[in-house]
This record gives sequence, structure tokens and C-alpha cells, in this order.
Amino acid sequence: MTYTHVAVFIHWVTAILIIGLLAVGKFMTGLDDADPLRFSLTQTHKTIGILVLLLSGLRILWRLTHKAPPHPAQAPAWEKFAASLSHFAFYVLILLLPLSGWAMVSISVLDIDTLLFNTIEWPHLPIAEWLNLASTEAKASWEHHFHSAHHIAGNVLAVLVLVHVGAALKHHFIDKDDVLRRMKPRITEPGFLGVLAFAAVCIGAGYFAVTQISKSSASTLVASDSSVTLQADVTGSETAIVFSNSSISAQIDANNPANSSLMVTVDTATATSTNLQVQGSLPNSDWFDVDNFPQATFQSTSFTSGQEPNSLEVTGDLTIKETTRSVDFTLIMTTDEQTGESSARIDLPINRFDYQIGLKSQPNEDSVGAIVTIQVRFQLGNNG
Ligand code: HEM
Repeated sequence: MTYTHVAVFIHWVTAILIIGLLAVGKFMTGLDDADPLRFSLTQTHKTIGILVLLLSGLRILWRLTHKAPPHPAQAPAWEKFAASLSHFAFYVLILLLPLSGWAMVSISVLDIDTLLFNTIEWPHLPIAEWLNLASTEAKASWEHHFHSAHHIAGNVLAVLVLVHVGAALKHHFIDKDDVLRRMKPRITEPGFLGVLAFAAVCIGAGYFAVTQISKSSASTLVASDSSVTLQADVTGSETAIVFSNSSISAQIDANNPANSSLMVTVDTATATSTNLQVQGSLPNSDWFDVDNFPQATFQSTSFTSGQEPNSLEVTGDLTIKETTRSVDFTLIMTTDEQTGESSARIDLPINRFDYQIGLKSQPNEDSVGAIVTIQVRFQLGNNG
């Protein structure tokens, strides 16, 4: 007796996706919070994780309705028991991991949507309602619990995968039985080719649906060509401090603002000014302290419709050096009538003393004004 073509196909597809998710999961959580790569990898991780959840559901249904081949007759009883136990643990973990990940992002105080393949909105689980959580602290604490469950389950699954591969190789090379062979794709058999053809049709239909939805939801715009400048009043004259290296990861949906997100990162060491005295101070510990804080970041936490047309009200956390403060501002979008290109502008006045900027070297407002304005400009275009 052997495994069905469907069971073999789902086994290898989920195996590849899960090993990828484990590796990417570990890699992305090792990146700096402000790294835009962490943001984009997490979005892809969520999409593939949900795909694994759906495939795992299908796999369990298939397993419940189709008998698996028995353990090799000659295997000792403890080995049969260990195999059954580890297979059961696999089924638990391939559900627990995606469900804990889904729960974590659903309760997250950052409230970032899960957009499958950057297009299809996947709902959040109403965990806060189920657990009757109202305060941000309670939500953050549950987010932490789900994160721990996800982390521990990921580590257990990684160990189990290694043991599973080792056991399969032992059966093949030492016991020389058919345990590995019966999970081998029988690629020349019409049944397996049928499963492959069906999968290809599903992938094709899925790809078509995603591209159609993405075209029709052209209201979701992504950022490019960004610039970040700090305008300061230096001895009475407007002085610009330009960050030549900045990156913006934005998804702006004016029709459904809750779908939007914005992450801005600037490399503090790339700040320059035409005022040479200011320029000299910028890298110092009293200004941007570039050695200890190479990046300053903004991460949005909520978007709502603005009062003016084509504007959105944004709230989020601005981190400069060791200080993180919640800030609000208006994001204004404009479209060039001739080229049809859209762009976004943000002007955010902050008090530099709140972020310990120039506190010791320019404590006097007559030399550098307390209020400095962060100006962010970027182009908006359709995704892909
Ligand atoms: C079988 C499926 C999945 C596997 C094997 C998996 C694996 C992992 C691993 C190993 C990590 C690193 C955890 C750590 O060491 O701290 C991770 C992180 C993460 N996973 Fe998953 N995951 C899966 C599904 C999902 C799903 C479905 C979601 C959400 C919809 C998700 C959301 C996340 C997020 C947001 C993080 C990053 C947490 C952080 O930034 O600290 N995962 N995942």
C-alpha cells in the first residue's frame, strides 16, 4: 500500500513552503525593526503562512478520509509508536503555527492588514472581542503570548523536521524498506500528472484572479522616489537639512484608509546642510548621534480619512535616537494633471528638544528654533 497522489503532492509542497517559512521567519526577526526588508518579508511570510494553513486544512481532511499505509511490519513497536506520535505532532504544529501567526497579527497594536499576494484582503480574527480586551496594554500582552507560541512552535517544528528527515533516510539507507519510496512522487503515472495539471490550473486561475483584483483596486498606491528634509530656523533664516539616503515603504488606499501603512527610514549619517556650522554638528552625539543611532524611523499605527479632499490623517511612532513619540499629521496627495502621476507630501513640525536634538550645543532658540519641520515627499504608483 502507498500514499495517494494527492497526499504525496500536498506533502512535498507544504514541506518546501514550511522549510522556507521557518528560514525566512528566523531571518526576518533577526533584522532591525526599522529595516524595510523586515516589513516586506513579513508581508510575504504572512501570505505563504496562510497558504500553508489552507493546504494543512486540505491535508488533514484528506488524511481523515483516506487511510495512510501501515508502518513497516518489521519495525520495532517503539519505532511505530514514535512515528505515529511525530506524525500527530506534525498535524498539530502545521495548524498551530499559522493559527498563532494569524492571531498575533490580528491582535497586534500596529494593526497592519494581511493582504494575500499584496492584493486580497485576509480578515483579522476578532480575538480582542473573543477575549474581551479593550486596553492597548492587554492587546500588547496577548500579542506577546501569541508571538511566544509562534516562536516556540517554530523551534519545535524545526527540530521535528530534522528528526523526520533523519528517520526517513534511516528507513531508506539502513532498514532498506519502502517508507521513503512510498512518499516519492510517481511522476510518470497519469494520476500524478492529473494532480499536477489540476494544481497548474489552480495556480493559473489564482494568478489571473490576483492580477485582475490588483488592477481593479488601483486605489492602493505604493511609494517611490522619496525625499526627506528637515527645515530649521537657524539664526532667523530657513535652513534645510537633507537626508540623501531615505527609504519609504508605503501602501496608500484612499478609499479604505485602514488598509494603508507607511514606514519611513532615514540614514542619519547622510544628513547634509548648506549651513556649514549646522553641517558640522549633525553627526555629533548632541544632534543625530550617528554612531549610536544610524537610523531614525517613522512607523504608522493608524490611517483615517482627512478633512480635505485627497488627504489622510496619519498617526504613528517617530523614533529619533532613543526617543519614540506618537505623532499625528496630514498626508496630502496630489495628481499632476499633465502626467497623471500622483505624489504625497507630509509636513510634520516637531519640537527638537523632545528628541534631545542640539539640547546642549544649541539650547538657545535664537540660534536654532525649537520647532523643526520634517518634510517628506514621495511619488505614488500602482503596485507592480
Ligand atoms: C506553517 C506556517 C508558519 C511557519 C512555519 C512560521 C514560522 C515562523 C518563524 C520560525 C518565525 C520566527 C519566530 C521567532 O523566532 O521569533 C515567524 C515569525 C513571524 N510569523 Fe510566522 N510562520 C507561519 C505562519 C504564519 C502566519 C500564517 C502568519 C500571519 C498571518 C505569520 C506571521 C508571523 C509574523 C508577523 C512573524 C514576525 C514576528 C516578529 O516580527 O517578531 N506566520 N514565523
